[in-house]
Amino acid sequence: MEEETKKILCVGLVCLDIINVVDKYPEEDTDSRCLSQRWQRGGNASNSCTVLSLLGAPTAFLGSLATGPTSEFILEDFQKFQIDASLVSEHAQCDLPASVVISNVVTGSRTILHKNRNLPDVSEEDFSKVDLRRFKWIHWEGRNADQQVRMIRRVEAYNGTLPQQQRITVSVEIEKPREPLFQLFPYGDVVFVSKDVARHFGFSTAEAAVRGFYSRVKPGAVLVCAWAEKGADALGPDGTVVHSDAFPPEALVDTLGAGDTFNAAVIYTLANGGTLQDALTFGCRVAGSKCGFHGYDSIREMFPHGWKS
Ligand code: ADP
Ligand code: FRU
Repeated sequence: MEEETKKILCVGLVCLDIINVVDKYPEEDTDSRCLSQRWQRGGNASNSCTVLSLLGAPTAFLGSLATGPTSEFILEDFQKFQIDASLVSEHAQCDLPASVVISNVVTGSRTILHKNRNLPDVSEEDFSKVDLRRFKWIHWEGRNADQQVRMIRRVEAYNGTLPQQQRITVSVEIEKPREPLFQLFPYGDVVFVSKDVARHFGFSTAEAAVRGFYSRVKPGAVLVCAWAEKGADALGPDGTVVHSDAFPPEALVDTLGAGDTFNAAVIYTLANGGTLQDALTFGCRVAGSKCGFHGYDSIREMFPHGWKS
C-alpha cells in the first residue's frame, strides 16, 4: 500500500449539536428567540476529522452511531466533508448522543449541555476489525480509556513489526479531568492535555502543565497544552518548551470546537513534516480563525495550502 493513500483516523465521539445562536445569554425561566438555530455534526473526534479534511488530509472516523434519521444526517455530513465513515459501528437499539449548545455571538462563548443516553463507546473488539495498514496516524479522544489502552497496544504491536518510517503515529487527547483518562498519558507519541485537566492538577499556565506532566508521557513523546486566548505550549524530548501565542480573530463569534480544531491542525502539520513550532503556530492560527466564524467550513478557503498557507 502506497504511503500517500494512508489516512489519519480519529477515534471517539460523534453526536448531534443543536446550536442556538444568541446575542444575549438567556435568563433562567424565560422564553426568548434566538438569532439562528442549526444542526451540526459534533463530538471532538468527529470535529477534528472535519478540520483535517478541510485542510486537505485524507481522513477517517471511527465511533459509534445509532440508526434512524438523526444518524442519517450525521452520515450524510461525513460524506459531505469527504470523511471516510465506513468504520462506524451502528447500534440499532440506541439513541444518538446530543448536545444543546448556546453560542453567544457577542462573547463567542459556547455553553454545552450534553447527554449520551445509551450509546456504547468503540470497544477493543470493534477496533480489532480495523485494517491498520490503511492508516499513518491514529488519534484517540480519551473516553473509555481501559479499552483505548488495549487498542493502542494493538497498534504498538503492529508498529513493532515495521521499520520506523512505516509506523503509525499515535496521539491521544486527555480533555476531561476524569481519573481513568490519566492512564492514557504514556500511550501517545503526541499527547494533548487540556487546560481543564491542567487546572485540576493545580497548574496555572500551559508551560507549567507541559513541564509538570512530562514525566507521565513515554520517552520521546510530545506533550501539548492549549490555553484559549493564551495560545499553546508544547514540550518534546529535547526539553525545550515551545510556545505560540493565540491568533485572535477580529471578533470572537463561535468558540465551539476550538480545541478540536487546534488538535487537528497540530496533527495535520506534524503528519506533513512540520516541526513542533510549525504545528503549534498553525494550530493556534487555524483555531483562532475558527473562533471568528460559525462552524468549520471557512477553514478550507482560509488555509488552502495547509500549514504553509
Ligand atoms: P476548547 O475549550 O475548545 O478545548 P481551548 O481553550 O483549549 O479550546 O483552545 C484551543 C485553541 O483555540 C487555543 O490554543 C487558541 O489557539 C484557540 N482559541 C481558543 N479560544 C480563543 C480565543 N478566545 N481567542 C483566540 N484563540 C482562541
Ligand atoms: C466540542 C464538542 C461538541 C460536542 C461536545 C461534546 O468540542 O465536541 O461538538 O457537543 O464537545 O462534549
